Amino acid sequence: MSDQADIKRPVSASKNLVEGEYPFTQEDFRNIAAMLHADAGIALPDSKATLAYSRLAKRLRALGLKTFKDYCALVASQAGVEERQKMLASLTTNVTRFFREPHHFDHLKTKVLPDLLAQAKRGGRVRIWSAGCSTGQEPYSIALTILSLLPDAGRYDIKILASDIDPNVVAEGKAGFYDEESCSAIPRDLMKRWFVPNPEDAFKRWGVGEAARDLVSFRELNLMGQWPMKGPFDVIFCRNVVIYFEEETQARIWSRYAPLLGPGGRLYIGHSERVSGPATALFETDGLTTYRLVGGKA
Ligand SMILES: C[S@@+](CC[C@H](N)C(=O)[O-])C[C@H]1O[C@@H](n2cnc3c(N)ncnc32)[C@H](O)[C@@H]1O
Repeated sequence: MSDQADIKRPVSASKNLVEGEYPFTQEDFRNIAAMLHADAGIALPDSKATLAYSRLAKRLRALGLKTFKDYCALVASQAGVEERQKMLASLTTNVTRFFREPHHFDHLKTKVLPDLLAQAKRGGRVRIWSAGCSTGQEPYSIALTILSLLPDAGRYDIKILASDIDPNVVAEGKAGFYDEESCSAIPRDLMKRWFVPNPEDAFKRWGVGEAARDLVSFRELNLMGQWPMKGPFDVIFCRNVVIYFEEETQARIWSRYAPLLGPGGRLYIGHSERVSGPATALFETDGLTTYRLVGGKA
């Protein structure tokens, strides 16, 4: 092999990255990745170029645009603020399930809720935050776990905040309708008691009943921005969200959760995530991907 062949040539910024309907260059991809990183903290590696193309080609089609270059110019401009939000929503991963990582709900039910619900019965408040709640299955699973222990939970000061950056998933969560397949992970007794068939779509989906719905408040919130909530929270679920962020951003998020948790506050994180950075000194392990604020009571 000649010396010439050993020279690594950089991929040209104008080279088309994906064969398809619209020209999509390295420069377009880098621009999109930079905007996603700036807005949502999400790191989009080069390996995701095809995925980005296929998700955003739909937006180009809807807008009647001919190139990704034009799309990038639009979302970078003042006139494209709304479309930039749609771009973000298209690029986030919203996969979720009822009772996903069920050991967290067992832990919540047996180790955490008994004290918290006793506290509520004595007139205290209980606050739980599902940060990055996607379409609502996580906060509703928390609500169902509470109802399984305290069927009249609505009488007490118990609230679950469910937040996500993506307004579409927040709206879906608020609506609270799920098809048979997504409901299959819900224990049958809970399903029977706390869900209602939905006549509006010919009973094809189930609606979350009032008791569970009343415990959950949905709102749009970007974890990269300001958090208006003061806390304290007794429990924070932030699962399978920071996995898309860079190390440094992950560490910053963990450090921001600590002061929002009350004594003994728990943090549940995703199966492939670990509390990292300076926050490791603030939390102790309390089970699989479960943490307790150091210095708190049991
Ligand atoms: C894979 S889902 C996880 C849903 C749920 N927590 C679970 O474990 O099943 C990740 C969610 O995080 C949200 N997300 C991504 N970046 C975010 C950010 N910067 N602020 C708030 N939510 C974000 C996405 O919109 C998506 O709904």
